[in-house]
Amino acid sequence: MSLAEQYQEKFRRSGELYTKASEVFPSGVTHDARFMRPFPVYVERAQGSHKWTVEGHELIDYWTGHGSLMLGHSHPDLVSAVSEQVRKGTHYGANHENELKWGQLVKELVPGAERVRFTSSGTEATLMAIRLARAFTGRKVIVKFASHFHGWHDIMTAGVHPPYDVPDSVGIPEEVFQNVRVAPPNEIDFLEKLFAEEGQKVAAVILEPTGGTWGTTPFIPGFLEQLRQLCTDHGVLLIFDEVITGFRLAPGGAQEYFNIDADLCCFAKVLAGGLPGGAVTGPKEIMDLIAYSDDPKRNRFNKFSHPGTYNANPLSAAAGIAMLEQIKGGEPSRLANAATKYLIDGLNQAFKATGVKGFAYGEGSMFHMAFGLSGYESKQDFVNWRPLMEVPFGRFGDAFRQAMLLEGVDMLPMGGWLSAVHSCEDLDRSIEAFEKTLRTLKNEGILE
Ligand SMILES: Cc1ncc(COP(=O)(O)O)c(C=O)c1O
Repeated sequence: MSLAEQYQEKFRRSGELYTKASEVFPSGVTHDARFMRPFPVYVERAQGSHKWTVEGHELIDYWTGHGSLMLGHSHPDLVSAVSEQVRKGTHYGANHENELKWGQLVKELVPGAERVRFTSSGTEATLMAIRLARAFTGRKVIVKFASHFHGWHDIMTAGVHPPYDVPDSVGIPEEVFQNVRVAPPNEIDFLEKLFAEEGQKVAAVILEPTGGTWGTTPFIPGFLEQLRQLCTDHGVLLIFDEVITGFRLAPGGAQEYFNIDADLCCFAKVLAGGLPGGAVTGPKEIMDLIAYSDDPKRNRFNKFSHPGTYNANPLSAAAGIAMLEQIKGGEPSRLANAATKYLIDGLNQAFKATGVKGFAYGEGSMFHMAFGLSGYESKQDFVNWRPLMEVPFGRFGDAFRQAMLLEGVDMLPMGGWLSAVHSCEDLDRSIEAFEKTLRTLKNEGILE
């Protein structure tokens, strides 16, 4: 039987559900990244580092809730915190003590978080940080990096995927991009020139601190430090989008991990323990633009307007507190970072053992694979970042996922996220599955 036939047989019920879902949702899915051919698997429960499909097949999970579940699925502390909160009410339409506790934890952990504002998602957090930067500086231009992802609001769809020339979405007027500049990562000269020409117009530079697409295109050593200095010199705010890295790389996120201070930081995912939630943090003088003010010069409400029905909702707050209480001591980050190093080594051995051209790499508890490339030996080599985003999707991507799922592992061809509860056995089984997958794809003529 071919790979696709085996997949269709093993995950038959998922296929049936997908056929029905295609009559309800565009492409049958509810998030672009969950789409795969001939159909994605349907999951009915999850625990720790594992999840089970509707057919009852166990999978080792490297999606970990799109990077939000640092403690794995259904950690007992989160289960009891959220269950207790459901009984007490899910939305008070009022302030509540847990939002305060949650905010205090964020303040305690995140460097420079003099003030915190909760949102409902990472997309909302980056939207807020950008608008705050524009309001604070009185400037319009936002600089982002090619390959960096900051959610799906209008201006951040610029320069996400190769060749970075058109936005990631239809439906956005061209004028929206008049005040956005897409910079190539790792080229400080480009930014020096840009700032020399129009530094007075630039409100902020926003970036994923480990590099674009959760670290697929890493920054070379020293780049972040140079950028920090450049921003300071030109009065430009530096925004760290820590939606993935926050509370993951270290309790204080990328700022702590790289020892660099950002002016504003955006969070989501781990922040809310896997429930919907985001936040922006920063100095009082910027964040207080959201505060009520008597200054009549500002605008109708004299403030940065920020409603949002689900901001700091009690369920997310309960999960977030339970998560951050665990994160605080640093053990989850240490465990997940160490496990990721082990996995990366194993994946690289599999590349070698099978003779497939490619390599695995990563930072903290995030890992990536670059198929078809070789020659990246040190971090300095990532100066050549463009080929790293040229993941051969389409037939290769679908076949990779099918083969890995057949081997009991749910992993994207571009990598994934680990939690603090991925065990040595999980890692060994995953490395074995990866090696088998490379051999299968060679046999199918999909990989050389
Ligand atoms: C770096 C980064 N920023 C922003 C977002 C958007 O967050 P959300 O999906 O919560 O809107 C994501 C989502 O994956 C992300 O990875």
